[in-house]
Amino acid sequence: MSAEKLNWRLLIMSTLLAVTSIFQMGYTSAYPNTAIEGFRNYLNKSHNPPFQLLNSEFEWIWSGMLAIYFVGFAIGSIITASIADRIGRKCTLCFGNFGGLLSAIIALFGIVFKLPILFGTSRLLMSLSAGISMNALILLLQESSPNHMKGLISFNGEMAFVITNLIGGLFGMKFLLGDNLAGLIGISIVPSAIACLLSTLLKESPKYLFLKQNDLDGAARSLRFYQNLKDDDEKTNILNELKLEREEMTAKNDTIFDILKKSTA
Ligand SMILES: *[C@@H]1O[C@H](CO)[C@@H](O)[C@H](O)[C@H]1NC(C)=O
Repeated sequence: MSAEKLNWRLLIMSTLLAVTSIFQMGYTSAYPNTAIEGFRNYLNKSHNPPFQLLNSEFEWIWSGMLAIYFVGFAIGSIITASIADRIGRKCTLCFGNFGGLLSAIIALFGIVFKLPILFGTSRLLMSLSAGISMNALILLLQESSPNHMKGLISFNGEMAFVITNLIGGLFGMKFLLGDNLAGLIGISIVPSAIACLLSTLLKESPKYLFLKQNDLDGAARSLRFYQNLKDDDEKTNILNELKLEREEMTAKNDTIFDILKKSTA
């Protein structure tokens, strides 16, 4: 059956999307480990008065900058579902990716103009955006890909994190860009800009279009985009499955209301 065939277009598209959307997250979590001396010098130079940063002060500032990452990512992950239900999966992914791009630009300004507070702010924005992008990406791809490719596509996301982490660690090394922080951060603008461009070219997930917006034609177009379904029978099958899902959803609501009615009666 053609439904079991590997969809190379979807695989390549989702891999590119995963690597570029997750790039900031993997990259910025890894380079602080290898470029720590570069950042120590940067903070020392940016200190007022310059070159009088104490070791204890450095430890505090540095721990704060590292911890911000987890705070932002946790908040981003928690709020994604409600944003994605309101504005859709695609728009949420675009939103997260634009946030990531903006954060890299702010970080670059923070380095060039020796403003550590700006660099710290960029890390908060970056991790918040990364939480949103990553969760929106998983939601969008899981809802849009054919069943037999869902596992492979989740694996893609995890691999993307491992790879971008590796790139961040490598680039942060002294012999690469560890002493050139502006270069280290500036270079990450490229994949983030690609992520923004790619995500605006996507289509909304068929499931969201059909179940949340009741847009049958849009859902059919989205199925053609993601799954390349030329066969009308297959498309009708999938849409029927979604219809069943919607009926189940409303049926469940009915029973909840029934239970409430019964318990208040
Ligand atoms: C900052 O620079 C000064 C002068 O080079 C040095 O003595 C001091 O140890 C540096 N501070 C840190 C935290 O590296």
